[in-house]
Amino acid sequence: MHNTQLDIITFSPTGGSACIANEVARGMEVGNIKTWNITKEIPTEQVCMGQGPVIVSAPVYGGRIPGIALERLQKFNGERTPAIVLVTYGNRDYEDALKELCDVLTQQGFVPLAAGAFIAEHSYSTQEMPIAQGRPDEADKETARRFGAQVITTWRKKEEAKYNLSEIQVKGSFPYKVKGAHTPQAPSIDQERCTLCGACLDVCPTHAISLIDDQNIFSDQALCIKCCACVKSCPEEARSFETPFRKYLFENFAVRKEPEFFL
Ligand SMILES: Cc1cc2nc3c(=O)[nH]c(=O)nc-3n(C[C@H](O)[C@H](O)[C@H](O)COP(=O)(O)O)c2cc1C
Repeated sequence: MHNTQLDIITFSPTGGSACIANEVARGMEVGNIKTWNITKEIPTEQVCMGQGPVIVSAPVYGGRIPGIALERLQKFNGERTPAIVLVTYGNRDYEDALKELCDVLTQQGFVPLAAGAFIAEHSYSTQEMPIAQGRPDEADKETARRFGAQVITTWRKKEEAKYNLSEIQVKGSFPYKVKGAHTPQAPSIDQERCTLCGACLDVCPTHAISLIDDQNIFSDQALCIKCCACVKSCPEEARSFETPFRKYLFENFAVRKEPEFFL
């Protein structure tokens, strides 16, 4: 498999989904890896993937795939391209997200070959109220690499059977869980602490943050998807996001969940 080309397509505001995709790729031990990071940018032209395989990873928001990630994935088409479909979630549940991602990719010409749901630190986790803090940890990464190795074996077997790729069944149901209404609320900023370094502007996936007159950071609440990338990347801890969900998640989802696979 050393000269196989592997593409990774990832949407990952706080890095968990990208980390898992990279570890699965490592376990696959393929030669060339090309990464399409659609967290901030998308290709200008439509991209057609060839014989694959392709790893696609995204986070779970409200038991679904974030709309913006699905919108950006529209830029990619497969030609019965085998896909390894991955979601990461913050130790609550992934509900219909994995199924949704598999379904969307199938509609775009990919054939889900394998799928996995992994756990990553919740976007709302803080030191005071940690939720899946520090994950993916070493054990998760090791699991992801082993899954990658398993995927390659499965793929090889299916390849020998002349690409007779059959669809895999994953957890989740259709109609998908109904999404909650968009609440106009963005992480707040402590102007005293903010040094206008611009770290938050660099990481915001929706370009919702701007610097006004070189002296004020402005967050457009309509564009904000509450991913908390700005909160986690701020070197001065000037950004915070207040939500009642944090306490609820902290109190109710402290028991460690483990990754699940579908092959
Ligand atoms: C708006 C929003 C909704 C979320 N919904 C869920 C959820 O339904 N279940 C869950 O376990 N985690 C949920 N999370 C946590 C993320 O799925 C988790 O932090 C994920 O690993 C982030 O991926 P990333 O690091 O690639 O950005 C949510 C996070 C955000 C920002």
